[in-house]
Amino acid sequence: MGSLIRFLEDRVEREIEARKSRGVRVVDPRAQTSSSLLMDVPENDSRRGVPPLGLREYWYPLVPDSKVRGKKPLYWNILGDDVVLFRDKKGQVAALSDTCAHRGTSLSEGDCFYEGFVSCPYHGATFAGDGECVAFICEGPDSKMVGNLHMKVYPTKTIRDWVFIWMGDGEPAPIEEDVPPELFEPETQMHASYTYWTTNWLMAIENHSDSHNAFYVHRNSVSQLTSNHAGRDRSPVAPTGRIINNRSIVTVHPGHGYYDVDGKSPYQMYYPGVDGVWPLHTYRKMWIWFFDIFNARKRAGFTGVFKKAPEEWALGHHLPCAVRAGGGSTRWAIPVEPNLSRIVYFYFTRPKTALGRFWDRVMFKFWRFPMAYNFSGQDNTAATPVRFFTPEHFAPTDSQLIMLRKLITDGSRDAVRRRQPHDNGGGNGASAPSDTAPTREPVGSAS
Ligand code: FES
Ligand SMILES: [Fe+2]
Repeated sequence: MGSLIRFLEDRVEREIEARKSRGVRVVDPRAQTSSSLLMDVPENDSRRGVPPLGLREYWYPLVPDSKVRGKKPLYWNILGDDVVLFRDKKGQVAALSDTCAHRGTSLSEGDCFYEGFVSCPYHGATFAGDGECVAFICEGPDSKMVGNLHMKVYPTKTIRDWVFIWMGDGEPAPIEEDVPPELFEPETQMHASYTYWTTNWLMAIENHSDSHNAFYVHRNSVSQLTSNHAGRDRSPVAPTGRIINNRSIVTVHPGHGYYDVDGKSPYQMYYPGVDGVWPLHTYRKMWIWFFDIFNARKRAGFTGVFKKAPEEWALGHHLPCAVRAGGGSTRWAIPVEPNLSRIVYFYFTRPKTALGRFWDRVMFKFWRFPMAYNFSGQDNTAATPVRFFTPEHFAPTDSQLIMLRKLITDGSRDAVRRRQPHDNGGGNGASAPSDTAPTREPVGSAS
């Protein structure tokens, strides 16, 4: 079923590939730097310090391992970098810059004629997974380019059939700091999926723990119509947040919602300024009542999974761009282009039996459309028209996104690296070739 609905991702990936850089370099002044994006906001606005193409000094989920196969290398784009993926001599996914170090053509349009190597389509420079040129076919076996031509290498690791990539210029941090702890717990079962939003990465995650829109934006989502209580209660009081290890902001919901005498949030409330109620109609309650009987997600164990996680990985935001949400999902908004994000979902469950594992897999297939396309697609629709370069007037419930921006601009590894005297900028521009030894060993077992 998964492959049947991959047509959307395939189409977007073809479009991304069609837009990849070529010929003379054209810099779009509105898109490539924060300052040019944010011309309408004051000098001290924290958005000026947010890189449009994301934080670099982090591990990111890159691609399902199974997507890299056969004799053709795979073109991929992450944080605006053109990357080529192929299998090295050990069969692990290697990631190199897609720009051939000889004369700059696109390696991904080449071939893997020899197992474990990728050959450039122009003059046949052939590279190993460590980025070294091992043959230069057009110059013959004695070419001086062999051993003297080096590609930029991105360190990768494969965990549970997903390839992760280190995008930083610095020494890779321990991957355990950047990915959910459930990945390393043998008793968890992982269910993964990805799609695309036409939204900048920050706007794609800022919708978490703000004045939460579940009751409004998602009123006609399958999730809302099948659950009596999806999303946070309406409240003029912000949830508090706590920064942990300069890597996450954990949400602490204060429970200041409006409650009926029975302690439940009322379905419909009166807004005196418009002399009307929201929601406008109560007919949705019939659906909620009906479908709550079949609340498959609850039954499938997709909730409560994070209770065992360390505090850093409780509900909230986690750098570089992940959201830990109720229902057991970790959702990354990974920058591809300034206004295009790859949304990667990892769901974890803890089935106790083989039948339970089977049941969770079936349930994930069932929930993939309601969550990743229907519910989350509505967030994309709401966030895409945001004009991120205009002045804002915050509500009290926006407090957590202010914390998030501050963490990105002041506390993130990129910020720390920028403050180091020896660093010449780092940041989000073109990266210098890394002299870091690549790591491509699998560190987890397949689920
Ligand atoms: S451009 Fe790649 S070998 Fe010449
Ligand atoms: Fe939402």
